[in-house]
Amino acid sequence: MKSIILVGGKGTRLRPLTFEMPKQMLPLVGQPMLECVFASLAKHNVDEVVLSLGYLPDQFIEAYPLGSIQGVKLTYAVEPEPLDTAGAIRYAAIAGGIDDTFLVVNGDVLTDLDLSELVTFHERRHALGTIALHEVDDPSRYGVVTTDDEGRVAAFVEKPPRESAPSNLINAGTYVFEPEVIDFIAPDRKVSVEREIFPFLADRGSLFAMPDNAYWIDTGTPESFLQANVDVLHGFDVGRHLEHLAGTTWRHPSATVAPGVRSRNAVIDRDCVIGTDVVLENVVLMPGAIVRDGAHVRNSLIGPRAVIGSSSVLGPTCVVGADYVVPEHSRLAGEVKLGDI
Ligand code: GDD
Ligand code: MG
Repeated sequence: MKSIILVGGKGTRLRPLTFEMPKQMLPLVGQPMLECVFASLAKHNVDEVVLSLGYLPDQFIEAYPLGSIQGVKLTYAVEPEPLDTAGAIRYAAIAGGIDDTFLVVNGDVLTDLDLSELVTFHERRHALGTIALHEVDDPSRYGVVTTDDEGRVAAFVEKPPRESAPSNLINAGTYVFEPEVIDFIAPDRKVSVEREIFPFLADRGSLFAMPDNAYWIDTGTPESFLQANVDVLHGFDVGRHLEHLAGTTWRHPSATVAPGVRSRNAVIDRDCVIGTDVVLENVVLMPGAIVRDGAHVRNSLIGPRAVIGSSSVLGPTCVVGADYVVPEHSRLAGEVKLGDI
């Protein structure tokens, strides 16, 4: 079965990291997040992916020039301008010659959802579209769905205020579609699948949704990107064996770590340098990051080649952009974003 992966968003909530790199190329324990998404598609007989690109497309094309990831064939559809989610699906479906039942995946979601079960659910109901659902406490940053007993969608509301959300079941960002759906998407303008196409299909009674209890996380915010890293450190399967994992710290073999470093739930990527008496807890250090002696870094994302000055204390939730230098003895906590904003 063919699948479209949407990776054309600007990743605004992960700025400044996403100024340098598209969200799906950010490393999840040393491996681009996109490869983790491919690992789960490969498990479920997806044999061809159309990567729907718009923002910084060259980084994907340069990283995967051979046209395959994890054994799955890969083609690219580069939008001339951002078409929003449904516009992107239409554009990629036409570019990829899709003419049969197909999958669509939000490329920033990490899950072990059983895709084969979702496709079977879709086929049994003769649906035009089927959405995977996930239950959360606060649905306000997601698409919220209500269904009848058979799974037919009664309402789809994108990002409602928390108090008016009609349920706690959210759009998990994985869809099965029949090719006819493409004809409902207007050409040559921005169209949102969540705000336009899902409500339209729901009104026609052609949209279904399947609740699921699988592991699921949208990695699009600093907190959730950190959590996804921690979950991989704790064993969530992303299709590779994690070498160089000591306890809950993963360390690239090229990293230099001085004695006396205390770490828990930490990712220390390629060419990082960590000074003496550093404390790292719930931290992702991207390639080439430097943490100088005595710094304490907690619940933070440190971008490529950034430097954390000696004796600094960084707390929830600092996002330090590429090449940024945090002066020594800094005290930073709260929603701190450092770099070109
Ligand atoms: N090609 C392309 N073009 N891709 C896009 C565009 C575009 O114009 N806009 C967004 N995308 C991609 C993003 O890169 C991402 O992989 C996916 O579409 C979803 O966009 P996000 O920006 O991550 O949306 P969200 O997290 O706020 O909400 C979406 O995901 C939730 C689940 O994670 C919605 O689908 C919600 O309904 C859903 O609950
Ligand atoms: Mg998202």
